[in-house]
Amino acid sequence: MTDRLVIFDTTLRDGEQSPGASMTREEKIRVARQLEKMRVDVIEAGFAAASPGDFDAIRAIAETLKDTTVCSLARASESDIERAGEAIRPAPRKRVHTFIATSPIHMEKKLRLSPDQVVEQAVKAIGWARRYTDDVEFSAEDAGRSELDFLCRVFEAVIKAGANTINVPDTVGYNLPNQFAETIRQLLERVPNADKVIWSVHCHNDLGLAVANSLAAVQAGARQVECTINGLGERAGNASLEEIVMTVRTRADIFPVDTRIDATQIVPASKLVSQITGYPVQPNKAIVGANAFAHESGIHQDGVLKHRETYEIMRAEDVGWTKNKLVLGKHSGRNAFKSRLAELGIVLESEETLNTAFTRFKELADKKHEIFDEDLQALVSDETILPAQEYYKLNYSRVSSETGETPHAQVTLSMDGQERQAEADGSGPVDAAFKAIEQIADSGTKLLLYSVNAITTGTDAQGEVTVRLARGERVVNGQGADTDIVIASAKAYLNALNKLRSSQDKVNPQV
Ligand code: KIV
Ligand code: ZN
Repeated sequence: MTDRLVIFDTTLRDGEQSPGASMTREEKIRVARQLEKMRVDVIEAGFAAASPGDFDAIRAIAETLKDTTVCSLARASESDIERAGEAIRPAPRKRVHTFIATSPIHMEKKLRLSPDQVVEQAVKAIGWARRYTDDVEFSAEDAGRSELDFLCRVFEAVIKAGANTINVPDTVGYNLPNQFAETIRQLLERVPNADKVIWSVHCHNDLGLAVANSLAAVQAGARQVECTINGLGERAGNASLEEIVMTVRTRADIFPVDTRIDATQIVPASKLVSQITGYPVQPNKAIVGANAFAHESGIHQDGVLKHRETYEIMRAEDVGWTKNKLVLGKHSGRNAFKSRLAELGIVLESEETLNTAFTRFKELADKKHEIFDEDLQALVSDETILPAQEYYKLNYSRVSSETGETPHAQVTLSMDGQERQAEADGSGPVDAAFKAIEQIADSGTKLLLYSVNAITTGTDAQGEVTVRLARGERVVNGQGADTDIVIASAKAYLNALNKLRSSQDKVNPQV
């Protein structure tokens, strides 16, 4: 008998708590669409009470998704739960996920509540959540360092109050696999009505054990795993979705569970999240790293050529790796362009956006004769900022870089519709371009990250640039792509400045 393992993706909530990984509403919708295409069961779309921007993004995702359950996190307070309930209202399938800390250190030092008060608040929270949906999840924050007897007491009370998924987070990534599995076993045995609910785990990776702990919990009876694409998440991150899904599938001889995930969507999801957040995927990362299926040594290559299974336990194509495929060229029409985007799961909201994207596609096709899926994805991500929100726009740039000479940049921007020009020297052409932009924008920001990646192979490939800027507490990622990396860099810088103008302050649920 194979049970369903529920995959609960929290890339848009815990993942977004990674420093600097904040996403705009449009970016979140794109990730949510990709997750639904991958057939994730539940998407934690955000923490509605964090900010009006978070609320709007969850609401938009709730209006967009049809099949996947849309969930919002909420602290165990009436106002948080009301925001969560309102945000998910339009979704055909919706869940409120409420939590309160249960470890002695969190109760005493952070919440300043007694254990009795925590139980009382948790029970009330379930009642508030059930006003909005029958699908209510409860988490005992820092369960990994909570006393087992107290966990049993809280869980018994919230099940009685109507929670139907009980989540056991190892919030600080402190547990070891055998110890965590034993906790789950004990809870399943001791909590009354444990068989009426789904037991879930949410493991952090502080000791590099998030996936191991989650899988040990599954062996002990957990039937939901909370995870993120590329293992993104607070501090060292969460359990990585791709590793969980592919382990239970590849070792079906050990795990009596399966998921409904379409694994061929894993690599596209990984690339999308990496591109949007500016968090690169390490080349040797399991499943989604560029080298995950590359055989370097002669002995391995020889073995794989003779019989693939000698060195491969999974097939690259089963998790969505494809050879760079020529998809479109300069003679492709608007319909071919639109339908290839649709095949990639990209829906451009308006005709106007589609037209702009198509014009950019034609410009790109003139410079670069072969257009791959990755080029289309980058091109469309440029489109996520609609003209109305483009306060800064690059109109012109001229950059000189010559042996023995100081690099120099001249840029013309449109700033709120007004044309402005500046020029500056720099230590390199990108530095000169950024300095020239700053002469106009005078943004008062600090550059935290600058990275360039070639989107496809070949020297005519587009460079995809991520720029992370901070101003005070706010951190944003800007992206830009172009066959000219100085232009890609300038676009990424301006994209970050535009986002900074529209981003809103938000609170972290656990603070
Ligand atoms: O790590 C954690 O405890 C959480 C909870 C809010 C589920 O993210
Ligand atoms: Zn967490």
